[in-house]
Amino acid sequence: MKDFWNDRYGRAEYAYGKDPNVFFKEQLDLLPPGKILLSAEGEGRNAVYAAEKGWQASAYDWSENACRKAIQLAEEKKVSIDYQICSLTDLSFEPESFDAIALIYVHFPNAIRSMNFERLTSYLKPGGSIILEGFSPNHLKYQAEQPSVGGPKSDDFLYSVEDMKLHFNGYRFKTLKQQVITLEEGECHVGKTEVVRMHAVKS
Ligand SMILES: C[S@@+](CC[C@H](N)C(=O)[O-])C[C@H]1O[C@@H](n2cnc3c(N)ncnc32)[C@H](O)[C@@H]1O
Repeated sequence: MKDFWNDRYGRAEYAYGKDPNVFFKEQLDLLPPGKILLSAEGEGRNAVYAAEKGWQASAYDWSENACRKAIQLAEEKKVSIDYQICSLTDLSFEPESFDAIALIYVHFPNAIRSMNFERLTSYLKPGGSIILEGFSPNHLKYQAEQPSVGGPKSDDFLYSVEDMKLHFNGYRFKTLKQQVITLEEGECHVGKTEVVRMHAVKS
């Protein structure tokens, strides 16, 4: 799987573009800058945007090509980001050290999703925000009609509002919805689909 991502990021183009995800940008713009962790951040579009807005941005991904292009994008925009090449199982950040954590199109199988959320939220300060956007189960229908929209091909990898309520029990939801949107993110997310959008605050 890691080879798949390294191949995808091996091209000169940015797979999901250089601009931040629309929902991420909208939600981040509501918060005062602090420390943010971008999970499975790929080529750095969201981390670089956060850094441009004055955030101290840390990111990780297991793809070496993703890291190289993220650093290149940061240099292009004249900001700095901390980017670690590692898998979610190797993370070692300080507990409760981030003001915000973002998961933008971070799709793992159901069996390890809880573990991923538990680990990541242990790094979030009380009062900190989780910003998440990912494909919902209805995505598969849209994807069948329009493969250019990309995304996982199995419902085991998809997010629903009900799942988010269970995983983030005790959090305050500023936003939690399933929404039909039209993605225009680089070459790999193009078309109409349904996503889950969540901004949740840790108690
Ligand atoms: C759809 S891309 C999203 C990238 C980025 N969040 C964005 O929105 O541009 C999913 C990312 O998850 C990363 N990824 C998948 N499994 C991973 C794992 N076990 N550890 C670290 N990164 C992983 C891939 O390398 C890829 O960059």
